[in-house]
Amino acid sequence: MSLPRAFALLCCAAALAVVCFAGQATMATAASVDWPDAFQQNNRLGRGVNIIGYDPLWRDPSKARFKDEYFKLIREAGFNHVRINLHPFRDRAMDQQDKLTEQYLKTLDWAVEQALANKLLVVLDFHEFQEMARQPKSKKPRMLAFWQQLAEHYKNAPPEVLFELLNEPNSELTPELWNELLRETLAVVRQINPKRTVVIGPGQWNNINMLEKLKLPDDDRHIIVTIHYYSPFDFTHQGAAWAGRKDKVGIAWKGTDSEKQAILTDFHKAQAWAEKHRRPLYLGEFGVYDRADMDSRVRWLSFVTREAEKLGWSWAYWQFDGDFIVYDIPNNRWVEPVLKALIPPKSKQP
Ligand code: BGC
Repeated sequence: MSLPRAFALLCCAAALAVVCFAGQATMATAASVDWPDAFQQNNRLGRGVNIIGYDPLWRDPSKARFKDEYFKLIREAGFNHVRINLHPFRDRAMDQQDKLTEQYLKTLDWAVEQALANKLLVVLDFHEFQEMARQPKSKKPRMLAFWQQLAEHYKNAPPEVLFELLNEPNSELTPELWNELLRETLAVVRQINPKRTVVIGPGQWNNINMLEKLKLPDDDRHIIVTIHYYSPFDFTHQGAAWAGRKDKVGIAWKGTDSEKQAILTDFHKAQAWAEKHRRPLYLGEFGVYDRADMDSRVRWLSFVTREAEKLGWSWAYWQFDGDFIVYDIPNNRWVEPVLKALIPPKSKQP
């Protein structure tokens, strides 16, 4: 099904267009969708999960691990959105002229349509953070070319589709350089999508401590600010080879007062920044690698999600499949302790 057709099916009713998502129905004239502000959008994002960043489906849909029915499962489990991690520099997504291939856009349209049809909001997250961190200057034209095309392709998508300019800027892409790059990228997006909600995070891997250095255009109020949280890193990344911790396992998180206080101190720092700058906050990634003991994982995940929610933040768990998993694809079942820590059954919203 084409995107316009999917949106039309979702949004039609007699003379007025009815825009229906996340179980809500908002009346709007057909010509002018009433663009929600960033705080409303953040409330609607609510609880989410990162999906398909490392799924072979981008190269070959016949090899997909993620199946159509998972969108429905995700919604039924109580999530309100998905954050789709995009790697257009690999996955044979761009040709020599930096043009996105038809195949790539077709796959992406499939994911966006399926999410929307299942009343999930969608964050389109440009996840080429490693390439951008290594060579921010030489890769900039590709990043801008990507956003130019994505902004054009989704210019008629409903407000339930959000753009995230770049996951975790770091290393050579310093907070200062990132401030310049984010302005240029945002300008490209804003030419075509003046009011779409855009997600932007601070430098050094979307670190709370770098919020002070983040410079956003004051007059653009359609921005949600994202932070990522994996502290204490020795605990959340124990056993993770890519983080130099392959053999460093057996670290518990007991939930002592001082362990909790360390998290609260970080969160309150972020919240103070958000209030001062009048920006909504999105905890776009957090999680504990599968090698940690399950009881500790559950304690940490419950604490982080509940505290984020108390502060009015939206969040997206890292991640559905691959590692840190909340869904066990080979056995076709949720990892129940992780899911329940994220979404306690009693707190599920219809
Ligand atoms: C990266 C993953 C990594 C995760 C946790 C994500 O942003 O894309 O490769 O596993 O962070 O470290």
